[in-house]
Amino acid sequence: MTKPMTIPEIIQTKGKRKLSMLTAYDYPTALLLDKCQIDMILVGDSLAMVVLGHKDTLAVTMEEMLHHTKAVSRAVKYSVVIGDMPFMSYQISPEQAVENAGRFLKEGGAQAVKLEGGATVIPQIKAIINAGIPVQGHLGLTPQSIAQLGGFKVQGKTAKAAKKLIEDAKALEEAGCFSIVLEAIPAPIAKLITENISIPTIGIGAGKDCDGQVLVFHDLVGMFDRFVPKFVKQYLNLNPEIENAVKQFKKEVEEEKFPQHEHCFSINEKELKELKE
Ligand code: KIV
Ligand code: NA
Repeated sequence: MTKPMTIPEIIQTKGKRKLSMLTAYDYPTALLLDKCQIDMILVGDSLAMVVLGHKDTLAVTMEEMLHHTKAVSRAVKYSVVIGDMPFMSYQISPEQAVENAGRFLKEGGAQAVKLEGGATVIPQIKAIINAGIPVQGHLGLTPQSIAQLGGFKVQGKTAKAAKKLIEDAKALEEAGCFSIVLEAIPAPIAKLITENISIPTIGIGAGKDCDGQVLVFHDLVGMFDRFVPKFVKQYLNLNPEIENAVKQFKKEVEEEKFPQHEHCFSINEKELKELKE
């Protein structure tokens, strides 16, 4: 078997080949992604939206995140598993942040955590890294701040906002992050950031010049019902396929075409006769 991916290797891969990252929230999906040697598997708090049916990512809890992180970790042998710290699991204090980050490794079986924000969360990031836990940063469209941002909108479109993004990326690098997710920002800004820091940038709606790309699994396979963001490439459209299969099942049950002989268990005639006597 190929040697498992590691955090130091992810850092060293910058400039050599592009990194791949996808989300997974369950065992069968994680098995597939690991088999495909996706570099990083993120148990994203997008779980709240694509699996749990919430309207945004705010409601998901530490317990729910851990429940899914455990399932993913059981499947993974190659990829680096990253636990996404949910809203209000790290904002309150560095102490709270370390405690919750630790749970992702100790209970969840993850190798790293991700959290959203720039300068304001540096104390938390430093505290987590001091505890020996690798941290991935996340800048640009940070969905946990949706109330402040006023919706899922592209960020860093003014010179001032772009300058702040570049400063935040530098601050995350200096704090010791092993990589940074850049979400929904202009491609030229993502390129500038990528050229100005030594750790990999992983883009989602951030153009082709990032050091790697991430997508939400359910977007990639066409299993999210509500909207397809501009930055998503749907490699597969599973929803209609599954719908057809389910309709077919219902039809065959009603028409008594399922189950067929080959799906049934038999008993020998002698036993059956004895029973009926
Ligand atoms: O929760 C998530 O899926 C994410 C990715 C979009 C980076 O944070
Ligand atoms: Na997230």
